[in-house]
Amino acid sequence: MTKETVRLGAVQETLLIPLYGRALDAKARRPVLGDVEAPRMVERIDYDFAKFRGPSLGGSVLRSAIFDGWVRRFLAEHPDGTVVELGAGLGTRSHRLDNGRARWFDLDLPDTVELRRRFFTDSTRITTLAASVLDTDWFERVAESGGPYFFVSEAVLLYFDEEQVRSVVRALADRFPGADLSFDTGGGTMMRSQDRNPVFKAVDARMTWTCDDPKALESWGLRLRESRTFATPQPEVARTWPWRHRYGVPLLARLVPPAVNTYRMNLFTLEAAR
Ligand SMILES: C[S@@+](CC[C@H](N)C(=O)[O-])C[C@H]1O[C@@H](n2cnc3c(N)ncnc32)[C@H](O)[C@@H]1O
Repeated sequence: MTKETVRLGAVQETLLIPLYGRALDAKARRPVLGDVEAPRMVERIDYDFAKFRGPSLGGSVLRSAIFDGWVRRFLAEHPDGTVVELGAGLGTRSHRLDNGRARWFDLDLPDTVELRRRFFTDSTRITTLAASVLDTDWFERVAESGGPYFFVSEAVLLYFDEEQVRSVVRALADRFPGADLSFDTGGGTMMRSQDRNPVFKAVDARMTWTCDDPKALESWGLRLRESRTFATPQPEVARTWPWRHRYGVPLLARLVPPAVNTYRMNLFTLEAAR
């Protein structure tokens, strides 16, 4: 089998970390996500995945499970709603959670989309968009679906600076007021430990945006509805996790609180400008 070669920018390359995490999870005795597509993609891509090691691999799986919990709840309330993945990478949520009725947009930069298109084909309800989350030229394409909208951005905004993140939030709030927006935030403890993190030793990209308190982002025109860590997932999500995660992570959070509490998954509502 001829393998797929990858030519990706530095931040784009980081999509291979959660992909590998999901592939390992799929092969585990008790998977969390059970993403059957991930191991197939890993086998087909010509890349030294084995250089990725450490807790971030399992962490990326728990992160996806928490975001999945919110998307599942949104789709239960709005089965015909629109889910927009900002910085989709080789993520499979639009396939994993599809209910046969929702509209999905998987947005990422052109080089990532070029790779993504080698594995996924669009359908009448699932659309890939080659665009930057920092631009707004894709807004109207998404708006044509009519909503309601759920925006999810997983391990993407962390690579921007604060002013860029603020402008993404403001632009989304102005065009899609009332929509849900979920994204992760990393506090100083996490940002300062990157150089010691085995997965970051294997890539050039570094996360830049530090946010210790997601509640403080409300001043940007967001309402924080939920903020979770790996120790505090939604109860319906926790029930699906193996015991080592379900009870092991809360124990770790009690022993070393900053190690767990510094990384947060957040669910916001976008508010119209007052
Ligand atoms: C760590 S990966 C996460 C991928 C995916 N969300 C996941 O969890 O598997 C970071 C992703 O952000 C994307 N990205 C970086 N800058 C972007 C931008 N300006 N617009 C859209 N996507 C961007 C990269 O291409 C990459 O797919």
